[in-house]
Amino acid sequence: MTHVPIEATIERCWREVATIEEAFEAGEIDREGWHRRIASLVVPAYLAGEDPRAQSGFEGTGADWEHARGLVAEAISRPGTFLDVGCANGLLMESVRAWCGQRGLSIEPFGVEISPQLAALARQRLPQWADRMFEGNAAGWSAPLRFDFVRTGLEYVPRSLAPALLEHLLSTAVHPRGRLLIGPYTEERDQTRSALSVQDTLRAWGFEPAGTLSRTHERDDRVVRRLTWIGGRARIPDLA
Ligand SMILES: C[S@@+](CC[C@H](N)C(=O)[O-])C[C@H]1O[C@@H](n2cnc3c(N)ncnc32)[C@H](O)[C@@H]1O
Repeated sequence: MTHVPIEATIERCWREVATIEEAFEAGEIDREGWHRRIASLVVPAYLAGEDPRAQSGFEGTGADWEHARGLVAEAISRPGTFLDVGCANGLLMESVRAWCGQRGLSIEPFGVEISPQLAALARQRLPQWADRMFEGNAAGWSAPLRFDFVRTGLEYVPRSLAPALLEHLLSTAVHPRGRLLIGPYTEERDQTRSALSVQDTLRAWGFEPAGTLSRTHERDDRVVRRLTWIGGRARIPDLA
C-alpha cells in the first residue's frame, strides 16, 4: 500500500524530533530550547499551509481530516466545554463543535496554543472565539476554568515530561467529571506492534485509561488511528 518508513507515517518529522529529544536527554538543551527547536519545525510549515488542515499540521483531504480527527468528537459523550491543547489555527475547535452538533451535542470550544503566530492566526480565522484562544505552554498554563473535555498530545513536551503534562492538565484544566483525551495518535496495529502501546505507556506512568477508540489509517494499513482517554480524577470514577 505504501513504501514510506512506518515512523514517517507516525510522525512526519520523526528524524528531526528524535535528534531534538536526544539533545534534551543529553542535557544539551533545556525545556525552552526543546520548545524552540520543535517550533522551528512546526510553525513555518503550518503558516505556509495552503488550506486550513495544513495550517493545523494535517496532510490530506477534508474527508481524511474528518476520518482521522473525528475520533475526538466520537469520544465526547455529552454537551459541554472542550479545550483543544495545541489548537494551531483553531480548525479542530471548529470541527469538533460541528461534528458534535450533528449528534445533537452542543459544544463550546476553547484552545491554548504555544506559538504566538498560530494563536494569532486562530483568532483571525475565528474572531467570534478570539477571547477563548489562549497563548501559552500547556505544561505550565493556568486554565481560567475547568473543561468537560480536554484534548492533548503526548508530543507537546519532551517525552520524559509527558506524565507531568497529563498530571498538570488533570489537576488544573479537566473537570473532575470530565475526560482528558489523548490523541488521535498513530500506532502500529496490535498484531505487529513491537513497541509499548500508548495505553500501556499510560498505565506504566500510573494513569488508568478509561476508554479507547480506533480507526483505520487513511493511507497506511500497517498503522491505526487511536484516541485514549482518562477520567478527570484518577480516584473518582469517570461519570461521563
Ligand atoms: C499537530 S498541531 C494540532 C492541531 C489540532 N489541535 C489537531 O489536533 O488537529 C499541534 C499544535 O500544538 C502546538 N503545541 C505544541 N506544544 C505545545 C504546548 N506545550 N502547549 C501548547 N501548544 C503546543 C503546536 O504549536 C501546534 O500548533
